[in-house]
Amino acid sequence: MRVLEGIVELAPVYGERGLSIVSGLGKFVWDAEGRRYLDFHTGHGAAFLGHKNPEVISRLREVLDSGVIAVGAAFSSPWREEAAKALSRITPGRWVMYMLNTGTEAVELALKIAVKATGRSKIVAFKGGFHGRTLGSLSATWNPAYRGPFTRHGYPVAFAPYNDPYSLDKYVDEDTAAIIVETVQGEGGIIPGSREFLHAVRKEASRAGALFVVDEVQTGFGRTGCTWSWECLGVEPDIFTAGKSIGGGFPVSVVMVKPEFNALSKSEYGSTHGGNPLASAAIVGGVEALIKDDVPSKAARMGRVFEEVLRERLEGHRLIREIRVKGLMVGVELRRPPTPYLKCLQSRRILALKAGATVVRFLPPYLIDEDDVGGAVESLEACLSA
Ligand SMILES: Cc1ncc(COP(=O)(O)O)c(C=O)c1O
Repeated sequence: MRVLEGIVELAPVYGERGLSIVSGLGKFVWDAEGRRYLDFHTGHGAAFLGHKNPEVISRLREVLDSGVIAVGAAFSSPWREEAAKALSRITPGRWVMYMLNTGTEAVELALKIAVKATGRSKIVAFKGGFHGRTLGSLSATWNPAYRGPFTRHGYPVAFAPYNDPYSLDKYVDEDTAAIIVETVQGEGGIIPGSREFLHAVRKEASRAGALFVVDEVQTGFGRTGCTWSWECLGVEPDIFTAGKSIGGGFPVSVVMVKPEFNALSKSEYGSTHGGNPLASAAIVGGVEALIKDDVPSKAARMGRVFEEVLRERLEGHRLIREIRVKGLMVGVELRRPPTPYLKCLQSRRILALKAGATVVRFLPPYLIDEDDVGGAVESLEACLSA
């Protein structure tokens, strides 16, 4: 082979934290110098089951040992079927599942299904909401900084106020295909949706003949204290999406659709890697870990501890506007941008991330204990006083 060399540079979107993460175990990651960090970032929430989760790793190893890491959708793969069986164990109701790779793809497909099933074209989404960065899901994402010059592309979307059950009918009309909602706005700043609001969205979708789509990419798989957050709220979606943590950090996403709305013909879905054996096995291992360790209950309990400690130590602090917690989605809204405080936390070996313009967000793995929470809150307090 004639080798022609060139230069390939990483796009300047990586590595801004100035920290190279080289290994992980459970709730910890290590940098290249061997320093240990408590990981409350978890790769944007994906490693919620902890790094090197034994169930996930052992299932991934089985696939690697089989030698088959790519199987086209036209062929059946036992791992794909096992993934569907595994998700049946934790998902009440009857669903048809599509497999993809990322959250944004899952949202894209959910919206496509809704458009086809209803024969309508408009989407209602919510101010502050985040659904991804490809054109369809980006059009349902609120923050203009993400939408930038792409606003004119994608779906026609009306943005309704979040947590306002009374104004919905002003935004939903006879051409609305779907109302898409997060039960807790993650990227928007950890804003939990009220029960009343989410029931009103369900009702409004049914009234208008639109599909009720719940985006569980960040909230799903136990993080808010229920396997799926809609279960805790007592509302059932027509379609829901999941991603991030369902494969224990391995890239995989799914769309679950009620059989009566599964309107796509075969040519309207396709994904080279969707349903890949490694991704499917990661779901199998993820579900095993979730059940074995009763992850949702642990997340609910540690979320309560986190909230208690935060309120006890930091409520009323002059730099803090609000503390918002739902399971292990934890937000501390500051009166100023969070970046210097995230850097300070990192220097104290705690990794967190931002949400919205002013929120320090913690997305820890379910494995954290009281000491971890105490340490993180103590560090935040110290950073806020520095
Ligand atoms: C609710 C929600 N939907 C969709 C996405 C997009 O997921 P991904 O980054 O995997 O495309 C995210 C990512 O943060 C999310 O939080």
